[in-house]
Amino acid sequence: MKLLRLLILFIVFQVSAQQGGMWIPSMLEGKNEKEMQSLGMKMTASDIYNINNSSLKDAVVHFNGGCTSELISSRALLLTNHHCGYGAIQSHSSVAHDYLKDGFWAMTDAEELPNPGMVATLIVRIDDITNRAFEGTSDNMTEKQRLDKIAQNLDKAQKEVVKESWQEVFVKSIYHGNQYLLYVTEVFKDIRLVGAPPSSIGKFGSDTDNWMWPRHTGDFSLFRIYASKDNKPATYSKDNVPYIPKHFLPVSLDGVAENDFTLVFGFPGRTNEYLPSIAVDQLANKLNPARIEVRDVALKIVDSYMRKDQQIKIQYASKYASIANYWKKWIGESQGINKSDAVKIKKKLETDFDKLVAAKGLQNKYGTLLSDFDSMYKEIEAVSLANDYWSEVVNRNVELLSATVMMYQLEQVYEKKGTQAFEEAREKLNKRLEGFYKNYNATVDKAVFEKLIEIYANNIPRTYLSKSLSNVDFKKLTDEIYKKSKLTSYEGVSELLSGSPSDFVKKINKDKGYQLGKELTADFYNNINPKFVKMSEEIATVQKVYMKALLELFPEERIFPDANSTLRVTYGKVSGYQPKDAVYYKPVSYLDGIIEKYVPNDYEFDVPLKLRELYETKDFGQYAENGKIPVAFIGTNHTTGGNSGSPAIDAHGNLIGLNFDRVWEGTMSDLYYDPAISRNIMVDIRYVLFIVDKYAGATRLIDEMKLVHPKKK
Ligand code: ARG
Ligand code: GLU
Repeated sequence: MKLLRLLILFIVFQVSAQQGGMWIPSMLEGKNEKEMQSLGMKMTASDIYNINNSSLKDAVVHFNGGCTSELISSRALLLTNHHCGYGAIQSHSSVAHDYLKDGFWAMTDAEELPNPGMVATLIVRIDDITNRAFEGTSDNMTEKQRLDKIAQNLDKAQKEVVKESWQEVFVKSIYHGNQYLLYVTEVFKDIRLVGAPPSSIGKFGSDTDNWMWPRHTGDFSLFRIYASKDNKPATYSKDNVPYIPKHFLPVSLDGVAENDFTLVFGFPGRTNEYLPSIAVDQLANKLNPARIEVRDVALKIVDSYMRKDQQIKIQYASKYASIANYWKKWIGESQGINKSDAVKIKKKLETDFDKLVAAKGLQNKYGTLLSDFDSMYKEIEAVSLANDYWSEVVNRNVELLSATVMMYQLEQVYEKKGTQAFEEAREKLNKRLEGFYKNYNATVDKAVFEKLIEIYANNIPRTYLSKSLSNVDFKKLTDEIYKKSKLTSYEGVSELLSGSPSDFVKKINKDKGYQLGKELTADFYNNINPKFVKMSEEIATVQKVYMKALLELFPEERIFPDANSTLRVTYGKVSGYQPKDAVYYKPVSYLDGIIEKYVPNDYEFDVPLKLRELYETKDFGQYAENGKIPVAFIGTNHTTGGNSGSPAIDAHGNLIGLNFDRVWEGTMSDLYYDPAISRNIMVDIRYVLFIVDKYAGATRLIDEMKLVHPKKK
């Protein structure tokens, strides 16, 4: 007994040393509330989430599915990142009005620009329906029977939910299938662009500074939610009016100091904090390096062409940015995993876990979990690698091959679903390809192909190597395909796509590029993908039990649910960090740093004249602190992709910043949060106000906000 207690004590310590966490807003009472208050928060859990009265959650909005945004005025002014509004800003831009380059500011409501298809989702309520979900399931069911029963239960729960006619509903599981939450939402569909700074502010530092601190990016843009006259969600109409929110965030002019409490409220996408050590090791040291190698080569080639040719630069800028974003993240992640000793720490925890299971006599239930993980991850490694190589090389970085994947899918539609389905799919694909080829350059793609196809052939695990790629002269193969294939231009593709379905099939199968792409893709769908999916499902079943065991064996622990694109609260403090020996990074950056980084006419570090003038004349209005304009700050909030645009909130519930990134050394926080070096990066809200007011002169927007001085009461 004594041994058991000792063990528990020790293991508890190991788990809580991790900190971090993305918590469910409706479940903050108790432990989280106490912890937040001990960090300096002056609010209660019900100030954050309340279904009877307005609360902070009524101001936090899921922005178009992928990002977060927040309401900052009684007229539904909506703040998010520049990189979240990028697509919308781009879609309104032309050579004559280049809003990406020059920025955009609506000086009246009438100038605000509608964005068909864009949605903004508010969370009305979160219900825990776990008991309902498991109703009628039992331990002697097979996993499939159990999952089917749960699916039925969830379906029923959604149909029977109490909600208003204009509201929507969905269910998500947390803790890997051990708990189920139902969300009632309101989805607004008339979202208009209100303002955006030029990219030289909103994307300042671009890829060089991406995932890095010190940072100086003014990564924000402004939108507005419009509703019907009775304040309900409605599709665009010129008669719609600004939505009147239940709550909007007051904006603090008092800024932050080291150790100030911060809360970040948003929609983090995906984390994997409870993977076994073997999986983390595999990801950091096998899968990430493979993906990084592919992108490394592709990015270098594309970059060399972008630097030589303005047209290519425009065509590839957005693709390059998105490929570079995760390339850089994976490098940071793998380094962080190894530097923080995450694998060793997890191994230790697993040894203790097994001991505790034995000490409690739970071997029958939980005794084989870790050895199951071990054998399963060993088994899945080759097919995971194959999956990644195919996804990166065929489906993404070689554009001609990614076009063959689309063609393959179209051919499959015809084969499996017949003519009518084919006609519909063909029309859609045609539109998609038109956009695709606008940004396509065959010379660039050929250079990428030649290098990547060699990496693919040499590195994909041998069992998954397609026939045509063994013993091949890569140079010859490349020349032949890019000389003969019609997939190198939209005209060529249109020709392939035209005619009757059987014409299409005949023509396409004669194309050299398609022949190779089809073989690789068919091998993927027939050999790689089914095995990968099956093994992943088996692993998920073990992960579910492992998660259950952790929750059961450590009931007192702060075990947070992995992110799943639902609304979460994370909290911490404004805090610098030590990235390496003898170096300490302070937590706040200033406009002075922008001037330091300024490189005239550089595509990453140019600074607009107006901003330089404001700096020179110190025309800072009410936004300076000791004569300096703060730009960004970092904190210990645990965030991930999807938290972009999330509000950073002070101890009283005021807006102090806008989340947009993490520091490079700490990006492994999706797998292992290390409080010493994991930091999120936020734009200081005073920089946003300064740009809106002094740079853009959009004072009407400042006037509709509620500016407060919480520290100067
Ligand atoms: N790293 C941030 C995020 O993951 C910002 C990305 C913006 N894109 C860029 N290439 N700078 O979304
Ligand atoms: N930039 C990321 C996003 O778009 C947020 C940074 C992160 O992954 O933490 O969501």
